[in-house]
Amino acid sequence: MANISTRFFGLDLKSPVIAASSSMTGHAEQVIKLAEAGAGAIVLKSIFEEEIFHELQEELSLRTPLNSDPEYLDYFDYVIKEETIRKYLHLISEVKAKTAVPIVASINCVSSSDWTLFARKIEEAGANALELNMFIAPSDISKSSENHEQFYFETIQKVLQAVQIPVSIKISHYFSNLSGMVKKLANTGIAGITIFNRFYNPDIDIHEEAVTVADVLSTSHDYLLPLKWTGILSGQVKVDLSATSGIHSAETAIKFLLSGASAVQIASVVYHEGPSAITRMNQGISDWMDQKGYKSISEFQGSLSQAATSAQAWERTQFMKYFGEKAY
Ligand SMILES: Cc1cc2nc3c(=O)[nH]c(=O)nc-3n(C[C@H](O)[C@H](O)[C@H](O)COP(=O)(O)O)c2cc1C
Repeated sequence: MANISTRFFGLDLKSPVIAASSSMTGHAEQVIKLAEAGAGAIVLKSIFEEEIFHELQEELSLRTPLNSDPEYLDYFDYVIKEETIRKYLHLISEVKAKTAVPIVASINCVSSSDWTLFARKIEEAGANALELNMFIAPSDISKSSENHEQFYFETIQKVLQAVQIPVSIKISHYFSNLSGMVKKLANTGIAGITIFNRFYNPDIDIHEEAVTVADVLSTSHDYLLPLKWTGILSGQVKVDLSATSGIHSAETAIKFLLSGASAVQIASVVYHEGPSAITRMNQGISDWMDQKGYKSISEFQGSLSQAATSAQAWERTQFMKYFGEKAY
């Protein structure tokens, strides 16, 4: 087997195939199976501040006015947070005791202050790195892009001050100047950027005339957007990139490595196929490297990025020429 080791999260990884954060990575037994299948690292399910808040709201709806006084509520908020954090920290220490594969904690919060509290505790529990799952839906038309962006920089700064372990971030593509934003993020001192997270999307049922939720899992065609931006950004920004969304095969993973990614993060294919998807992808990457005579990923990583090739295809967006020439 070829040497498929790489570096991401500021860590040496045995494989570029990372088990992405998902409900599967919220359970110790599943994490261990993913590690045994050959994952380069495992990103645990995010701890969501919103989730904690939701639990609090549910509990409050069951309360009588008597025990809804502010002091009780503050205390209750504290207890729920402590319990959620305690379970998460237990998961970290449990899986750390059972595997040498790097364990990356993930946090998603809506206020910058609580992230630092979580981050510190997560480091103490033994996580090897921390991924900040950051997203504010830019749906409030009264807010400027600067408003949104400021939250990212403030949060990153606070977390970096709070912990010693490497901190990376996972972002969406919803920025008004994506390249400029990634460049600024790369200069904050973070160890890596993962592009692009996948979110719930609304769909419409035309029979019921109702708004529904679209498929949660990706298809194998969903990789083109992150591939495009990996090709454009890698080599231009001074930070390691990993890619996520629609990466279901070794072939697609290799495309990302050629475009400049250091690693890929997969979830949907593991939901479909189980942890063996990781073993299959590791083997496929290794077989391709053997066929091509590559001894290490660094020999070809980024060789087809825009910076390395100046290929215009990376930035071409309009179909004008194609439709102009097509005869019907
Ligand atoms: C059911 C499910 C739960 C997820 N939970 C999280 C999460 O807690 N934190 C996070 O950063 N990403 C989460 N994700 C996103 C995945 O980590 C991954 O980045 C995304 O699904 C794209 O990869 P894929 O196409 O291989 O699924 C979740 C995805 C799925 C499908």
